[in-house]
Amino acid sequence: MGSVEGMTQVPSIKLNNDVEIPQFGFGVFQIDPDETAKAVRDAFEAGYRHIDTAQMYQNEQGVGQAIAESGLPRDEVFVTTKLNNGGHGTESAVRELEKSLERLGLDHVDLYLIHWPQPKQDLYVQTWRGFEQALASGLTRSIGVSNFQPAHLDRLAAETDTVPAVNQIELHPTLTQPELREYHRKHGIATEAWSPIGQGESLTEEAIVALAEKYGRTPAQIVLRWHIQIGNIVFPKSSNPKRIAENIDIFDFELADDDVATIEGLNADKRRGPNPDTFGN
Ligand SMILES: NC(=O)c1ccc[n+]([C@@H]2O[C@H](COP(=O)([O-])OP(=O)(O)OC[C@H]3O[C@@H](n4cnc5c(N)ncnc54)[C@H](OP(=O)(O)O)[C@@H]3O)[C@@H](O)[C@H]2O)c1
Repeated sequence: MGSVEGMTQVPSIKLNNDVEIPQFGFGVFQIDPDETAKAVRDAFEAGYRHIDTAQMYQNEQGVGQAIAESGLPRDEVFVTTKLNNGGHGTESAVRELEKSLERLGLDHVDLYLIHWPQPKQDLYVQTWRGFEQALASGLTRSIGVSNFQPAHLDRLAAETDTVPAVNQIELHPTLTQPELREYHRKHGIATEAWSPIGQGESLTEEAIVALAEKYGRTPAQIVLRWHIQIGNIVFPKSSNPKRIAENIDIFDFELADDDVATIEGLNADKRRGPNPDTFGN
């Protein structure tokens, strides 16, 4: 695959273990396993070099196929996967990553996440010890969590040795998560924003549509650019090649500070997904 202009435009963020992650990537939640290889191929063509999958999505194989077929050097693609909710436990966390690697056709991932804390099950601390082992043995270059609340992060800090490199949380204009972002900032944890365009819902917000007109951009580009400017790592999903290209085309303009603040002001603490304190038990 030849060089793509978009690729060089995507900035990287240095995680707390010095590993660099492209701030913009491609999410494959709800992409049919049979269509995943094509979607990831389209994303590579458009310049994406960061793929966010999960055991739960059942499409790691398609991601791996697209990586193999792309011919891209392994160190030019950043790959994240996540431990499924049934796999908590120290040994299980390592074993399940080995199975993911087999499906992906890789010998390591770049980031391995605990998908949900499942606090009632109360195994996330033991699971994190398995993550530390996987990191030490080179099965993954970094470890992090997803959907963790401050109380869950506090327990990892008190009972284990490794601060998560990232926390991947639901975050979009109507759920801007100011408290968690502040917690992350204080503790050196990078914020990854899932459902960055609210699964499409953010795109019809009046203020977003007005900003799209002002900047001559699409609503999706306005929202994704806002994420980039407030320091979030994002990976919007699309199965549509035109939208895949549209979403990454956000590195040649900048929102003014007061427009960033306007989007921040849309916060209504409104989740689309489940509450992490009760989900998955
Ligand atoms: N850790 C977690 O618990 C968790 C939970 C959810 C998601 N995630 C991750 O976050 C990624 C992104 O989140 P998401 O997939 O939930 O939602 P999203 O990226 O906010 O939105 C995806 C939806 O928006 C549409 N869309 C994409 N680009 C568009 C554009 N330019 N204009 C209009 N519509 C557009 C897509 O439809 P088309 O496909 O038809 O374009 C799709 O229906 C996931 O793929 C996954 O990797 C993680």
